[in-house]
Amino acid sequence: MAHRRQRGLTAMIRLERITKSFPGKEGAVAALDGVDLSVAKGEIFGVIGSSGAGKSTLVRLINLLERPSGGDVFVAGERVTDASGARLRALRRSIGMVFQHFNLLSARTVADNVAYPLELTGDYGRIEIAERVAALLARVGLTEHAQKYPRQLSGGQKQRVGIARALACEPSVLLCDEATSALDPQTTGAVLDLLRQINRDLGVTIVLITHEMDVIRRTCDRVAVLDRGRVVEEGPVTDVFLHPRHTATLRLVREAEPDSGSLDAVADPGGRTVRLTFTGPAAHKPILGRITRENLVDYAILAGRIGHIRETPYAQFIVSLSGRDVAGAIAGLEASGVDVELQGGAPFAAIEERPRHVV
Ligand SMILES: Nc1ncnc2c1ncn2[C@@H]1O[C@H](COP(=O)(O)OP(=O)(O)OP(=O)(O)O)[C@@H](O)[C@H]1O
Ligand SMILES: [Mg+2]
Repeated sequence: MAHRRQRGLTAMIRLERITKSFPGKEGAVAALDGVDLSVAKGEIFGVIGSSGAGKSTLVRLINLLERPSGGDVFVAGERVTDASGARLRALRRSIGMVFQHFNLLSARTVADNVAYPLELTGDYGRIEIAERVAALLARVGLTEHAQKYPRQLSGGQKQRVGIARALACEPSVLLCDEATSALDPQTTGAVLDLLRQINRDLGVTIVLITHEMDVIRRTCDRVAVLDRGRVVEEGPVTDVFLHPRHTATLRLVREAEPDSGSLDAVADPGGRTVRLTFTGPAAHKPILGRITRENLVDYAILAGRIGHIRETPYAQFIVSLSGRDVAGAIAGLEASGVDVELQGGAPFAAIEERPRHVV
């Protein structure tokens, strides 16, 4: 696994050497194979991986819907691997869950769906439940729909009910398993914005499971890439998204950008090929033109992409540099805060499974 910068914050969730196998027709199937993961308090942590990578298994281990075959689960510093009885119930209440297909009760109104987990606890009176439900529906923007039934709602509205219900018992952690995968892109954006707002306002730690890099890019602080039951890459979203090191990550990043799928597979036309990454204010400055001019260097843009990672703008290009002082131009770019990676050289050499065709 490629290790990256770790944050020194309190871990809200920690998985240590987690393995999970299920009985299969031809022996045990290892869904998770030695997963170490640490989610800091208050962050939005993404787990991305393709179908069957083990994402749902991982998320179900956090709220102990599944028990690990090996290893330990810690929540808020407490080992909860074997929790049972009242402790398990308290733990489940402190962890809300949002599902891909909403899992609403069709015979209950919106308000009664949100009230349901509160009723189950037996700790709240009728008036208190009504007050809490009203506040939760206001938070997710569904006040006017309180008396409707799930079948009368759009997908996005149903997921807002799911989110309000997950927040009912004031959890410290919200687990979202493909929470936007059944929604169209616009609705996905609105639901992700709501999750970020909840994270900001309530300080709830969010673990977001998805197979879409775009969801991670616009929402998460850090991300772990899961591939066949193993964490193959982990780090701040900017690092992982802009400098993917593992084949599984490259694949997911490419899927998010069908038009720039060639970014890692361009032919070198003869110059010095470099990957330039501009983030933050550098993304808007005419740095490349100025520095190449100063060094009497020509450049050909071979591939590129621009966009945002959360609020931060970025631009990434693969360019071929040729002319008088290529080394001077590279030094000048680096001095201006541009991240320069020489292509076809050392940076990727140590990474397993890096495809051979990468220049
Ligand atoms: N209850 C189970 N019994 C047997 N095998 C299981 C069980 N749950 C998961 N698996 C297997 O574990 C592996 C990981 O499954 P998991 O559902 O965690 O993947 P996922 O990353 O969530 O996939 P998807 O994106 O399709 O939801 C798969 O091979 C799956 O078949
Ligand atoms: Mg799943």
